[in-house]
Amino acid sequence: VRKLINITDLSTGEIDHLMDLADDIMADPTKYQDACAHKILATLFFEPSTRTRLSFTSAMMSLGGQVLGFADAKSSSATKGETVSDTVIMAGCYADIIAMRHPKEGAPIAAARKTTVPLINAGDGGHFHPTQTLTDLLTIHRKLGSFDNFTIGLCGDLMFGRTVHSLIEALLRYENVKFILISPPELRLPEYMKEKMNRSGAEWHEYTKLEDAIPELDVLYMTRVQKERFFNEEDYVRLKDSYILDREKLEDAKKNMIIMHPLPRVNEIAVEVDDDPRACYFYQAKCGRYVRMALILYFLGIN
Ligand code: CP
Repeated sequence: VRKLINITDLSTGEIDHLMDLADDIMADPTKYQDACAHKILATLFFEPSTRTRLSFTSAMMSLGGQVLGFADAKSSSATKGETVSDTVIMAGCYADIIAMRHPKEGAPIAAARKTTVPLINAGDGGHFHPTQTLTDLLTIHRKLGSFDNFTIGLCGDLMFGRTVHSLIEALLRYENVKFILISPPELRLPEYMKEKMNRSGAEWHEYTKLEDAIPELDVLYMTRVQKERFFNEEDYVRLKDSYILDREKLEDAKKNMIIMHPLPRVNEIAVEVDDDPRACYFYQAKCGRYVRMALILYFLGIN
């Protein structure tokens, strides 16, 4: 039974296949409109979501399948003390594939041991978010044409930002990707991630000021400071507006740089940037639907 907990659960060949399949779906979604007829996706969201849950739902509906689940742990029997593993066993009785999000790191790993149907991690705490990574990869591939030979700046909350961790893991497999890590000293990338980058031989540098890094970037990946992972409000308030990308800062950026953000944004990209041709974060969110369609088809073994 297939499980996607971390992006490393997919081989490079499988990622390439998912990118090709997502491209094909985007070219003509109607070809796939009945592919999952009579199949059911369970969306078990123990933590809030807009894009991930809605895009999984839209993906399954676009494939002709159906969706059940909950958007809030409060409406599940978790409130009565049911374990995540038991919840996942139950979902496997009623659905053919499961997407689950949980605030605790590692919860999907525990759940995956019990599941009898494919299980996809839709985000676990500050740990991993592999389907966001597939979304990011599809966006980069469609905008830059390949995954090789570019410089990516990852800016914001690199400590708790699970999308950053998963994207770095994925890009470490490709040739000559240079990483520029831009964060306040308190929100640096965790050491275990830096060790992974060192082991793979990747070139990476750390900056505190976005202005110092922006001129050399081909991709700028902005992130939100993750309020829900802070232990005290005071630290969050001090750090939350560390980076605000606006028109002025973009004056020094390459004309063909792309601006990404997994969303939701709070303050870190000014609304005036939305009209800049380099802004691709809404396009990126749109890609999420198609790459999740590809993943559902692949995990259900539907050609
Ligand atoms: N990018 C992302 O995971 O967004 P949601 O939290 O809204 O799902």
